[in-house]
Amino acid sequence: MGFAELRERMVRELVERGAIVSAAVEAAFRAVPRHRFAPGVPAAEVYGAPEAIFTKRAEGGRAVSSISASWLHARMLEAAELAPGMRALEIGSGGCNAALLAEMVGPDGSVTSVDIDPEITGRARRLLDETGYARVQVRTGDGAQPLAETPAEGWDRIVVTTGAADLPDAWFGQLAPQGRLIVPLRFRGLSRTLAFAWEGEHLRSDTTVISGFLAMQGQSAHAPRSVRLAGPEVRLVVDEGQPTDDRALRGAFATHPNERWTGVELTGSEGLLPPLNVWLAGAVSPYGRLRASSAAAERGLVGWVPSIGAGAVWNDDSLAYLALRRAPGEGEH
Ligand SMILES: C[S@@+](CC[C@H](N)C(=O)[O-])C[C@H]1O[C@@H](n2cnc3c(N)ncnc32)[C@H](O)[C@@H]1O
Repeated sequence: MGFAELRERMVRELVERGAIVSAAVEAAFRAVPRHRFAPGVPAAEVYGAPEAIFTKRAEGGRAVSSISASWLHARMLEAAELAPGMRALEIGSGGCNAALLAEMVGPDGSVTSVDIDPEITGRARRLLDETGYARVQVRTGDGAQPLAETPAEGWDRIVVTTGAADLPDAWFGQLAPQGRLIVPLRFRGLSRTLAFAWEGEHLRSDTTVISGFLAMQGQSAHAPRSVRLAGPEVRLVVDEGQPTDDRALRGAFATHPNERWTGVELTGSEGLLPPLNVWLAGAVSPYGRLRASSAAAERGLVGWVPSIGAGAVWNDDSLAYLALRRAPGEGEH
């Protein structure tokens, strides 16, 4: 299948699954040659990939840069509500998303993309030039810091493509009064892309997309901590400001669990857990995520928790987490 057909099929699938909603985003996806931003990767993989394509790894294999999945590019572009003539700032470069942004804002708008890694900006610059997007500005720097090129009225759109643990002051200061800030936030072990607009002095999000992003580096870098509860297989993932007495929690985990089932039955497509997790993360402190391998659950070491982890709360020497089980008397859910 040729590039054009592969792209057409990707666009059709994104429309069918509701990731692309507007004609403008659809047109941008048709225009951008996605495969040219992942040289060396087979085009069928680039257009068919359900997840990100990693473009740079640090020593030891940890991914530090990628081209985000097409569905996520689409959801973020839809959430950004871009229009011709706007000035957009992208934080975290790769080329592909900047090209999509450039299509959305058109020749009267502008796109500036900033990345902390000079190797990534060098690559993005080259790929954007080669694909006809020389008008995109590419800068090397920490995107959490104020950018000299910021227009006096601020950016109409700031699209962050790296997982942030907080909103740095610079983003508040650089967002225009009618601006929108799209940002993947990592908080208390959860990852959600939010779309903020001003509401008086505050920012309020009207969109939530469950999404994983590579963590932000630089001055705002923030690494969650992992507390081993039972070897490497069962861990509590904890953010800053969430104190733990690791030894006491390990001791608590080793005691016989006290099970209480809620009686709430979910179907696979119900979607109740994600908003419940966000609510718990905001309402209960400390809050973190309990992660466990399915092998550990099969051995009875821990209740069954999804691969992205389960909401967990604790005090000094006691811990509770939300496990799932097959509904009594039911088949596979
Ligand atoms: C997921 S990739 C960007 C994807 C890209 N926008 C695309 O077209 O799909 C995340 C990038 O964020 C960059 N990054 C991490 N921390 C940063 C920071 N503080 N400021 C700017 N860029 C940062 C990384 O170097 C990495 O290249």
